Amino acid sequence: MNASSTSPSPAPTGDRTPTPHPTRTSAPSAGTPEPLLGAVGMARPRIEGTAKVTGAVRYSSDEPMGDLAHGWAVTSTVTRGRIRDLDTSAALTMPGVLGVIDHRNAPRLDLEAGSFFGPDGGMHLLQTDEIPHSGRPVALVVAETAEQARSAARALRVTYDEEPCDVDFSLDHPAARPATSFIGADATVGDVDTELAASAVVVDARYVTPETHGAAMEPHSATAWWEDGRLQIVDSNQGPFLVAMTVAALFRLDPKQVRVRSPHVGGGFGSKSGGCGPQLVLAVMATAMFDRPVRVTLTRSQVFQTVSMRPTTDQRVRIGSDADGRLRAIDHTAAFEVSKLADYLENCTELTNTLYAARAIRTRRSAVPVDILPPYSVRGPGATPGSFALESAMDEVAERLHMDPLELRLRNEPSAGPVSGLPFSRRNLTACLREGARRFGWATRDHRPRTGREGHLLVGTGMAATSFGAGALPSTASITAETDGAFTVAIGASDIGTGARTALTAVAAEALRVPPERIRLLIADSDLGPAWGAGGSRGTTSWSWAITEAAAKLRSRPGGATLPLTVSFDTTESLGELPLMERHSYSAVFCEATVDPATGEVRVRRLLGMFAVGRVINPLLARSQLVGGMIMGLSMALHEEGVRDPATGRHLNTDFAGYHIAAHADVPDIEADFVPDYEPGDPSGIKGVGEIGTVGTAAAIANAVWHATGHRRRTLPIRPDHLVEERPLP
Ligand code: MOS
Repeated sequence: MNASSTSPSPAPTGDRTPTPHPTRTSAPSAGTPEPLLGAVGMARPRIEGTAKVTGAVRYSSDEPMGDLAHGWAVTSTVTRGRIRDLDTSAALTMPGVLGVIDHRNAPRLDLEAGSFFGPDGGMHLLQTDEIPHSGRPVALVVAETAEQARSAARALRVTYDEEPCDVDFSLDHPAARPATSFIGADATVGDVDTELAASAVVVDARYVTPETHGAAMEPHSATAWWEDGRLQIVDSNQGPFLVAMTVAALFRLDPKQVRVRSPHVGGGFGSKSGGCGPQLVLAVMATAMFDRPVRVTLTRSQVFQTVSMRPTTDQRVRIGSDADGRLRAIDHTAAFEVSKLADYLENCTELTNTLYAARAIRTRRSAVPVDILPPYSVRGPGATPGSFALESAMDEVAERLHMDPLELRLRNEPSAGPVSGLPFSRRNLTACLREGARRFGWATRDHRPRTGREGHLLVGTGMAATSFGAGALPSTASITAETDGAFTVAIGASDIGTGARTALTAVAAEALRVPPERIRLLIADSDLGPAWGAGGSRGTTSWSWAITEAAAKLRSRPGGATLPLTVSFDTTESLGELPLMERHSYSAVFCEATVDPATGEVRVRRLLGMFAVGRVINPLLARSQLVGGMIMGLSMALHEEGVRDPATGRHLNTDFAGYHIAAHADVPDIEADFVPDYEPGDPSGIKGVGEIGTVGTAAAIANAVWHATGHRRRTLPIRPDHLVEERPLP
């Protein structure tokens, strides 16, 4: 680690030592009770850590189940067209085969059922002979063992009438249409054209980010069976309650008939949010048809082909500035792909509406329907690709002004929401910028490009500022005061590897004023009541809010009540009463990168993120999430790229050999730390740490590559061949 050379901080909040570490990192506001020893603010290792590394925990495909049958999905080899023939005769005679489900015999689904964004044809599997995208499931073969199902799946003969497809997305695509959504309107403040005309410098550039996959370590798996008149499901997802509601809608069941559990989930990154995954739709169909428990586990390639991903974006940013670095205008038009099967909003302009003051701001979002499966949230949806465009353009403004890019950010700090006019609940971006710059050693930077050399390597540094929306969504928690002095805390949360179990145990302990050892936390079960999922960086806020209020309710009961005593609290009303404000996490990311001028190879050598993420429940786990997020940002900057063949529409790199994710050798020393922060609108002062680590990192790296080489990369990933071919590096 060379963090010690840049960080004299005495508080190793991201200590990798797996022992409890009594470090308080966030200052509670006045009126907040002093946390108990061992609860909120303490760096504690995750509760299930030992069970995980010893293989004792069960992921969804590990659930023991008698009489289990296995389904194997068969996916389309063409991108658009119709199934001409699906010949099951050979498959049906093979050992162990119970049957084949396809569009001719599959249970009919409610085609109005969908996700957050409305009806979602991505979930309406095996309903017609139409092929809407490459890799579309066309059949499920069900057999006694997974191996038998796989063999029979290979014996299925599927022929297609192929039709021309279009996966050739761009901002200028003739089918581009305004993307409207309940998630924030497009903005028009002031007169952008007039302000651009009056600007001393104007940057006008296009930025492209690739299709990006969640690529969670655990492939999607679901096991479904009927028991006592209820549909029982164990599934890998980010929110069991939301999934149960979606299954009920899709299969026209009474929601009370559906129970979804997700005890341990090996990562999601958005790929297990957004309704109900293909593994689950197929497993529920199969258990209904064969009257057996059925498990469907996707292969890695099937995960790539059938599970939602971040769409490609193509963005135009124009920024006009006065000579002293005060912004006159920001104009951001962001286009992104959607599927013809479902609507979706990749909200790339979120940061543009809130990060900087300018006399005029205009944001436009544009959706382009092409022949792909429905995209959905991935790793900081919207904000991440949007930040790459905005923060690259800001760096270009600084370049044109011969100005320190850090100073440019500081100079345009808004006093209220630049578009909304709303006050900020608590905005700590400047603290992140200043403390990050101090630790990184930014003050000695020569802001001219191509000024750093070490032997044959070009060396550069770059930075970006970032925000990510904070908030909570309705959830219900129940707490039972037990006769043995323990408290059973129940909430339909999902721990997708973030450490939610550990964080919520601390929150409950603090709220009940008892040591964490007296908390029995129940999560990951739709029967525990309505709850938001692990998504939008709003899991911990949403669940903690419900737990904190339920605990307050329990504590306010008069003494002497008969135990066990259960109270519950639904946050819907409290959330509705929250005054409208600009509520965000903030961060500043700094990067040092080297570029080999002979090969174009970029190595990130140093990454530092300073974060204002509200009160930190558990610095060990929060830092782990932020570092993980920064690695994903690095991976986006340099490696990840879902490639579709424009001729066939096929997704070409559906495995971890072709779709490279940053591995150990790609990842440098990373430092993530917190500035004191607190969200006044949240009972626990939390903002959320899930996604902000990813958001600004790609721009910081691209800006460092420019600083090293003088060469501006506006298309991600920054590939060595592009870097060398476009303009040879001397
Ligand atoms: Mo997350 S990408 O909001 O599941």
